[in-house]
Amino acid sequence: MSQLRALTRQKVAGRMPLTPYSPRLWWPSLLLVVGLLPACTYDNAEDLLSKNPPAPACDTVAVTFSASVAPLLQQRCVSCHNTTLRSGDVSLSTYTQVQRVATDGRLVGVITHAPGYPAMPVGGTKLSDCEIARIRYWVRQGAPNN
Ligand code: HEC
Repeated sequence: MSQLRALTRQKVAGRMPLTPYSPRLWWPSLLLVVGLLPACTYDNAEDLLSKNPPAPACDTVAVTFSASVAPLLQQRCVSCHNTTLRSGDVSLSTYTQVQRVATDGRLVGVITHAPGYPAMPVGGTKLSDCEIARIRYWVRQGAPNN
């Protein structure tokens, strides 16, 4: 009986160095944590920067009819607003036609989805904030033919 107990104790003692409290396993993990700390601090600084990226540039100054407004309308609107298909009795194929809806407020009304205007483009995604800002700027300048 005492022989068995001695054997058990031996076995337990033999397993001891493998427990999580074993100095042999504990010290390397402490070194690992200490070693990673500066890396974590650095990562956090990087995270902060990436979570607050500079606002995406939206150039609302270099806006012209020919280079900015017309290409956008061609791409998003003219399929429904041309001389053959004049949806809502509006064509947006020429400067004069665009100028008419720009100066009476309808152009900005429809693209900003303002109350009282049909939301444009029909069946498509709303223009981006930047695209809207650029058209708005052009209209505020007096919708010039530039
Ligand atoms: C899929 C077809 C379609 C597309 C694309 C489309 N429209 Fe229209 N648009 C219409 C229809 C249909 C009407 C008439 C809606 C109504 O009167 O309720 C209309 C009406 C209008 C009107 C007249 C609104 C009024 O109150 O008189 C303007 C201005 C206009 N659209 C501008 C645009 C602009 C700008 C775009 C692009 C951003 C665009 N549309 C894209 C179909 C379209």
